Amino acid sequence: MKKIDHVGIAVKDLKNSNRLFASLLGVDVDKIHIEEIEEQKVVASFLKLGNTKVELIEPTSPDSPIAKFLEKKGEGTHHIAFEVVDIKAEMKRLKKEGFKLLSEEPRIGAGGKLICFIHPKTSNGVLVELVQPVKK
Ligand code: CO
Repeated sequence: MKKIDHVGIAVKDLKNSNRLFASLLGVDVDKIHIEEIEEQKVVASFLKLGNTKVELIEPTSPDSPIAKFLEKKGEGTHHIAFEVVDIKAEMKRLKKEGFKLLSEEPRIGAGGKLICFIHPKTSNGVLVELVQPVKK
């Protein structure tokens, strides 16, 4: 894996949290990129910080995984995403190492990037996301 791509934080109110995190990080609230990710039933915002990002995620439906997370644990850190070069190769490697993947095939995440989650029970309680950037 190459680097931390972003840290995902589950929030109840994206608008308020955008302001809060813009203030915390000292970035311009108007430069926050907001995107709905229908497949995961969430709306997410990305606050760029150096060569990494903070992702704030609000559920758009009560059956969204994020809604369930908020119900169980409340607001807070939800996942850590790592950039990978070849997601399929990385998925194959991790599977061999004994990690449980949440999908057999890469899925489409924010920005059309290929993503895959690793079950937190096989990674010390940390939900890990793999992200392969879109090739230009
Ligand atoms: Co993410």
